[in-house]
Amino acid sequence: MTQCQRIVLASRPQGDAAPENFRLETAELPAPEEGEVLLRTIWLSLDPYMRGRMNAGPSYAPPVEIGEAMAGQVVAEVVESRDSRLQAGDIVLAGIGWASHGVAEARLLRKLDPELAPVSTALGVLGMPGHTAWVGLNDILRMDSGETIVIGAATGAVGSVAGQLAKRAGLKPVGIAGGAEKCAYAVEHLGYDVCLDHRDPGMAEELAAVTPQGVDCYYENVGGDVLQAVLPRMNDHGRIAVCGMVAWYSAGGGGEALTVPGIWRTILVKRLRVQGFLVFDHANRLQPFLDEVGPLVGAGEIHYRESVAEGLEAAPEAFLEMLTGGNFGKQLVRVGSDP
Ligand SMILES: NC(=O)c1ccc[n+]([C@@H]2O[C@H](COP(=O)([O-])OP(=O)(O)OC[C@H]3O[C@@H](n4cnc5c(N)ncnc54)[C@H](OP(=O)(O)O)[C@@H]3O)[C@@H](O)[C@H]2O)c1
Repeated sequence: MTQCQRIVLASRPQGDAAPENFRLETAELPAPEEGEVLLRTIWLSLDPYMRGRMNAGPSYAPPVEIGEAMAGQVVAEVVESRDSRLQAGDIVLAGIGWASHGVAEARLLRKLDPELAPVSTALGVLGMPGHTAWVGLNDILRMDSGETIVIGAATGAVGSVAGQLAKRAGLKPVGIAGGAEKCAYAVEHLGYDVCLDHRDPGMAEELAAVTPQGVDCYYENVGGDVLQAVLPRMNDHGRIAVCGMVAWYSAGGGGEALTVPGIWRTILVKRLRVQGFLVFDHANRLQPFLDEVGPLVGAGEIHYRESVAEGLEAAPEAFLEMLTGGNFGKQLVRVGSDP
């Protein structure tokens, strides 16, 4: 094989992202230099943060340039190695983006052990989303037994881990998800005491009814109508971990009644501690997370679910659908076959 495929950013979205913002390209297979490896992608991870990378302008990471491959993490097989640390056939976690193949520096790659867990989990429950859930609960919210916690996007890659870990730690987790099927799954499999449908117009009243003692912790993944419903329920000295705001990554996310003065007043009057965080600032917590959650996944005590799109060309549509709830669990793309 001498050629590979990749999906590039064709244009920047005006409002909601659309299929025409992406383009599938064929390119020459890159050749690894000293210290590098050539990789063949097996799994591509699709994550909400990628929507932000499509915009120009300052953020915590530089934007993807027009004509560049979309950024992203993959699980890949080493096809050719020019570094003694890795051999052909090894499976690694790499950041080569939306591409069938790529070249990466061997020293930056994490080698995976397929005996420990299916390698796709390195992009989900045992990867960046699981790590994010663990850091948000332990280091940002500093969750405590007996507290009531609300978790948005409750069945997604981050929320599904957060709900289960909060329950195991003795909290009362209340999930918020889109639709009856996801809400039933959240209660039956993810440890949520109750899960409310954010599409239900009565969601705010229902949240008040199921949190008679208020809300101590809010794991914020969503913004929009969910934030609007949770803020008035926060207890004095409550904590909010601002992890994401996926409702506002697309148009029509709701939350129209929220105003800056209103939010600020709530934070003051209830003496809330509100902290944003990005998981890549917490690399030193990856190993403690893996030490705790890895064995639980291996023993089947932590459940996870994956939504799989087939083929690299399916990535744009799967990504756009994920932003509005089309995924059920961690969204992946199967780009290549298992070794
Ligand atoms: N801070 C960090 O370092 C970090 C790291 C990873 C992820 N994140 C953030 O964490 C959040 C979850 O990420 P993820 O990877 O786990 O994605 P995910 O939850 O697997 O997928 C996104 C989900 O967002 C929900 N959603 C979309 N629009 C919504 C709306 N208007 N109202 C309520 N829910 C809506 C949908 O679930 P429903 O069908 O249930 O509505 C959708 O499935 C995102 O905000 C992401 O940006 C942050």
